Amino acid sequence: MVGPVPFQTLAEAEKLAKRKLPHDVWLAVKAGNEKQWTLSENVRAFEQLGFSPTIFDRPASIDTATRIMGVDIGFPVIVSPVGAQAIHPGGETAAAAAAHQMGTAMGLSSWSADPVDRVVGANPDTFFQLYWVGTRDRIRRRVERAREAGAKALIVTLDWSHTPRRDGGVPIAPPSDLGLATMARLAPIALSRPGWLAQYLRRGRIPELKVPNLFMPDGHIPYFGEAWSEFEQTPAPTVADIEWIRGIWDGPLMIKGITTVKDAEIAVDIGADAISVSNHGGNNIDGTPATIRFLPYIAEAVGDRIEVMVDGGVRRGSDVVKCLALGAKAVFVGRAYLYGLAVAGQAGVYRVLDILKRGVRETMLGIGRSSLDEISRDDLMVLNSDFFQRPAR
Ligand SMILES: Cc1cc2nc3c(=O)[nH]c(=O)nc-3n(C[C@H](O)[C@H](O)[C@H](O)COP(=O)(O)O)c2cc1C
Repeated sequence: MVGPVPFQTLAEAEKLAKRKLPHDVWLAVKAGNEKQWTLSENVRAFEQLGFSPTIFDRPASIDTATRIMGVDIGFPVIVSPVGAQAIHPGGETAAAAAAHQMGTAMGLSSWSADPVDRVVGANPDTFFQLYWVGTRDRIRRRVERAREAGAKALIVTLDWSHTPRRDGGVPIAPPSDLGLATMARLAPIALSRPGWLAQYLRRGRIPELKVPNLFMPDGHIPYFGEAWSEFEQTPAPTVADIEWIRGIWDGPLMIKGITTVKDAEIAVDIGADAISVSNHGGNNIDGTPATIRFLPYIAEAVGDRIEVMVDGGVRRGSDVVKCLALGAKAVFVGRAYLYGLAVAGQAGVYRVLDILKRGVRETMLGIGRSSLDEISRDDLMVLNSDFFQRPAR
């Protein structure tokens, strides 16, 4: 069902992805703003949480299934919406198909290279992610397109604040056209990794760098750079804007990018069905502590009124179990699956999700829990007493 995949762990997948991708594409995937402190803090924080394993009366069977925003998933890991273009010619459709094969849902970014209807065709459990780009009229049309395509939920991401600085190197700006001058600028990047470029050429095309889900009212599909300019010129949405979205989308709605109890309460008041505690994987403000340090406070405050999800730094099944022990219902993964996609397309994403699922099962066996709702804070040993940080507001 899947082709050869040259990695057994996510650490190997990351190394291989770095080697395979042109340097600028790698920079765009790894991302992480400024010093990348938040990016590495998200990963590192998991190391300060230990488990309390048990050896007697371990469960004979383990059930990792759960239900998120009305969708049944086989294990509590969902593909996070990621607008990372030109990693692999299979694109988001390949990631969605792999998620479907593994029995989980697909978060699809506004900035994806593949249109929402194609992605829903590969995975009927697709959640469409919306950025606030352009006028309400344009946004309404894009939401309607997602609904018509069959997207099961809407994710509204609110934490992006246009942060382009990268101490490790800023990737080349995405193009606003593919004219001769642009081609001349991009060609050396593509040619620097002939094997990567050849995957595209074998399919008779080059990376287009267009964003079909940010289509214009006249049907024009913009290049990434064109849509990005519109995004930067659009004022950030107000609470009233999000209430308006709630009014035009009658399916499950998730607000992504929460790091304070105050914002979580607002999401509840707006009538959202879910939140994701997220700092954009360290890809936005550098200096936000790891999301799992806040998670328990936010889950405690609103977890009985809204589904609480989390993302940031998840690289192992045991990380997933730690998130659940701290009050999350499920986790989203970003870079982990991007590395798999870059290395081996659909088969690579499948392998990544399989590694995570197995890791969840192994950890549950070790701590003696047979179902996800049995996992609790009692399963964790917190190695630093000041690990958790009550959000300042
Ligand atoms: C390259 C890249 C692009 C991203 N693009 C989006 C996006 O378009 N929409 C969105 O809601 N989040 C986006 N994110 C954030 C992810 O959805 C997620 O919050 C983050 O990757 C989780 O951290 P992790 O990569 O450590 O798993 C992006 C993240 C990365 C690394």
